[in-house]
Amino acid sequence: MRKPIIAIDGFSSTGKSSISKLVADRLELIHVDTGALYRGVTYFALNNFATKDNFIDLPSLFLNLDKINLEFRQENGALSLYLNNKNIDSEIRKAAISDNVSLIAKQKEIRDFLLKLQQNFGEKGGIIVDGRDIATVIFPNADFKFFLTATKEERAKRRYLELISLGFEITIEEVLQNLIKRDKIDSEREIAPLKKADDAMLIDNTNLTKEETVALICSIIIKKK
Ligand code: C5P
Repeated sequence: MRKPIIAIDGFSSTGKSSISKLVADRLELIHVDTGALYRGVTYFALNNFATKDNFIDLPSLFLNLDKINLEFRQENGALSLYLNNKNIDSEIRKAAISDNVSLIAKQKEIRDFLLKLQQNFGEKGGIIVDGRDIATVIFPNADFKFFLTATKEERAKRRYLELISLGFEITIEEVLQNLIKRDKIDSEREIAPLKKADDAMLIDNTNLTKEETVALICSIIIKKK
């Protein structure tokens, strides 16, 4: 029997990735952070196809997607993202990437390019995948579907503290504006917009700790297994 596929979608900075990673550790699943893949493509685009005024030359990017080799490698108990054999874990968290990623992610060419890659992760099951369209497009037959939300103020606070702890220099207002902008572009785009799947369970974790959200998700999975 195929092992379960668990889809975690939701708004920016609802803790999707860190919560998914903790659930993965507890239930012995592999965690796939699909946002990292879009960030990886954005990193490639900014390094190779940024125009002088810092726009991205999309037609050239689309013609060169075959030069992008993104892979997750197991390192110190977690998955690290490599772009053409270079570890880009820290690069993809920078503000320039967060500022541009949603514009890259709304392009059909980019979504098509990453679709198969993401679906391949699911072949054997036993994975928890977080993103924006996992339950609606990538794995519509996932065994468990969750959609995370929280107030934007709480989300900005959490992301701000995380970025500061990683050594980034940023204000909470900048973080708030970035997540409002990304949520708007992600929700309003034509292809695979961010939305809750009809059969996904909504979790508002504004007043829940990370640990409480993890415990809730684990208990639902264990109960139904
Ligand atoms: O999850 P994270 O905030 O790192 O995702 C960065 C961006 O990647 C999102 O704002 C969204 O534009 C895009 N994304 C997406 N579909 C996914 C995952 C991420 O469009 N499945």
